[in-house]
Amino acid sequence: MSEGSKKILVGVAWPYANGEKHIGQVAGAYLPPDIFARYQRMKGNHPLMVSGSDTHGTPVTLKAADDGITPEEVFTKYHELFVDACLEMGIAFDLFTHTDTRNHWDVTQEMFLRHLENGYIYKAVQKQLYDPVAERFLADRYVEGTCPFCGYEGARGDQCDNCGRIYDTLDLINPRSKLTGTTDLEVRETEHFFLDMGKMNEPLLEWISQDKEHWRPNVLNFTKGQLQLHELRGRAITRDIEWGIEIPLEGYEDKRIYVWYDAVIGYLSAAKEWAKLIAAEGGDPEAWREWWDANVNPDAPGYYFIGKDNIPFHAIIWPGMLIGYNDGEGGDKLNLPYDVPANEYLNLGGEQFSTSRGRVIGINTVLAEFQADAWRYTLTALAPETSDVEFTWQDFMDRVNNELVANWGNLVNRVLGFAYKRFDGAIPAPGELNEVDQALLDDVRAGFESVGALYDAVKLKAALIETRRLSQRVNQYLNERAPWTLIKTDPEAAATVVYTAMQAIDWLKLLWAPILPHASQQVHEMLGYDHPLFGRQYTQRVKDDRGTHLVLRYDHSGASGRWTPDPLPAGQAMRKPAALFEKLDADKMAERLAATQQE
Ligand code: MF3
Ligand code: ZN
Repeated sequence: MSEGSKKILVGVAWPYANGEKHIGQVAGAYLPPDIFARYQRMKGNHPLMVSGSDTHGTPVTLKAADDGITPEEVFTKYHELFVDACLEMGIAFDLFTHTDTRNHWDVTQEMFLRHLENGYIYKAVQKQLYDPVAERFLADRYVEGTCPFCGYEGARGDQCDNCGRIYDTLDLINPRSKLTGTTDLEVRETEHFFLDMGKMNEPLLEWISQDKEHWRPNVLNFTKGQLQLHELRGRAITRDIEWGIEIPLEGYEDKRIYVWYDAVIGYLSAAKEWAKLIAAEGGDPEAWREWWDANVNPDAPGYYFIGKDNIPFHAIIWPGMLIGYNDGEGGDKLNLPYDVPANEYLNLGGEQFSTSRGRVIGINTVLAEFQADAWRYTLTALAPETSDVEFTWQDFMDRVNNELVANWGNLVNRVLGFAYKRFDGAIPAPGELNEVDQALLDDVRAGFESVGALYDAVKLKAALIETRRLSQRVNQYLNERAPWTLIKTDPEAAATVVYTAMQAIDWLKLLWAPILPHASQQVHEMLGYDHPLFGRQYTQRVKDDRGTHLVLRYDHSGASGRWTPDPLPAGQAMRKPAALFEKLDADKMAERLAATQQE
C-alpha cells in the first residue's frame, strides 16, 4: 500500500457520560488524537477516529441515584454535552457514538460468546462484598477502601486512582459501602463469568517485547512490569447489577456484563457502526475491515489515546481480549494495538482534578468564554506527555497573550494587514528573492519534514515548539528586512519581502493547522483561498431497536489542506484581515487568577 493511503485506527478513550468533562481530560485524551488525525488526513492518510460515550457501569448509575433520575437520562444529557464540546472545540471524530446501541450490544455479545468458545471465558463462583443494609452486592464504585498496593484511602472497588493498579474488590482494605456507608459488609458467594487473563500473560509478554521502541517509556515500563510479574489471573467480567449489556446466555437475566469489558470493545463496534452509516450512503459495509481485519490489512496501525489511569485496560486487557478472540477457528483475526500514547495528568493546585470535590474546570464552561484555539494551544503547550503538569489561570493567560497572540497572531496580522493596505488587497508579486528571503523559505519549508515527523511520533508538544520557533523566525526576518521602511524607498523590494513573509505564513498555516484548525482556516480565508482547509463536522440521529442515538460525524471530502509546501499564488485577491486571537484581559480574569493562587 502506498504511504499516502495508510489506514490508521485512532481510538479515543470513551468518556463516562456522567458529568461535564474537564480540561485535564481534554488535554490527556480527547484533544491529542484530533491533532494527530488532522495531521494524518493532511498527509493523505486515512485515519478512522472513533469513540463514544461510555454509558454503562457504576459511574453512571451512581450519578443517576444522586440526581434522582434514570441512567438513560444521565447519559443522554452528558453525551449531548460532550458532543457540543467537540463541535465547539473542533474535535473531529469520524464517529462519536455511545455504548447503548444495538450495534454495540451485538458486537459485545458476539465477542463474549467467542471468548467463551475459544476457552478464554470460564464460569466460577466468586466471593463478593454484600451490603446487608441495601440488600445488594457491591460492584466496583459502590465500594471504597484502602488500596492494597499503595495504601491510598480513597481507592475505588475496581481501581486505585492514586497508583493506577487494578485489583479484586475483596483485596480492598477496610471496605465501606458507598450506598449506605456501612463497613459491616458480608462476603457472599455469587456466580460470574471470568476472563482468563492468566492464559494471556505469556502471549502478551511476547507481544509487548516486540517492536515497541516507539512506545512512551512510562507506558511501556508500566505494562512490561505488570506482565513480567506473571500475576495475571481470571478477572470477573460480569456483575450483579441491572444496568449494562445482558449476558447472551440463558439463566443470567439478573446479571450484566462489566462496563470495562464492553467499553474497550467500542473501538471495534464503532468502526462497524461507521461502516454501516457510510453503507447507508452508498459505501461499503465491510469497510471497517481495512482498519481491523488482519487478513484484509495487517498494516493498519491502531493508536489508543488515553489518560494514564486507563493504561492497564488498553495495554493489557484489550490486547489480551483480542488475542483470545483471534485464538480460534473461523473467526476474524483482529489487529492488536500499535501504540498507546497515554498521557499523565494535568493537575490543579497540586492535586488531580476532582469532580466530587468540586475542583474542576469544565470544558463546556470555558469554551463559552474563551476561543477554542486558545485552549487547543495551551493544552498542547502544557501536554502532560511525560509527567504530571500543573494548570494555572495565570499560565493560560500568559500563553495566550505572550505566545499565541504575540508570536503567531501578531505576525499574521501585521503582514496581512500591511499587504492588504499597501498592495490593493491582493498578494503582491515578488521580484527576485535574495539570499535572506530564500533562507527563510528554506527553513520554513523544512518544517514539513521536522514538524511532520513530530506529529507522526505523537510528540505534539514538541511539534508545537518547533512550529512556534519557525513562526518566530519569520518575525526576525521581518525585523531584519523591515518592509514598512523599505516601501518608502524601494516598493519592488518591499513587495518581494511581503510576498516572502506571506509565503512563509501560508506554509506555517498548514504546520499550525492540526493544533489551531480554526485560526488556520481564518488565515487561509484572509489569504484569499476559497476551499476550506478541513472537512465538516455534523451530528446525526440514528435509529435502532434500542432507541435513537445522537452521533457526531466528520466529512473530510471537501478538505483542501495538504501537508505540502505549495506556492502562494501572487495576485490572488485577499479578504480583509481581522485579528486571529483575542488578547486576555487581567481584570476580566481577576477572579479566576485569584482562585488558582489560593489553591
Ligand atoms: N470510561 C472510561 C473512563 O472515562 C474510559 C473507557 S475507555 C475504553 O475512564 F474505551 F476503553 F472503554
Ligand atoms: Zn493504589
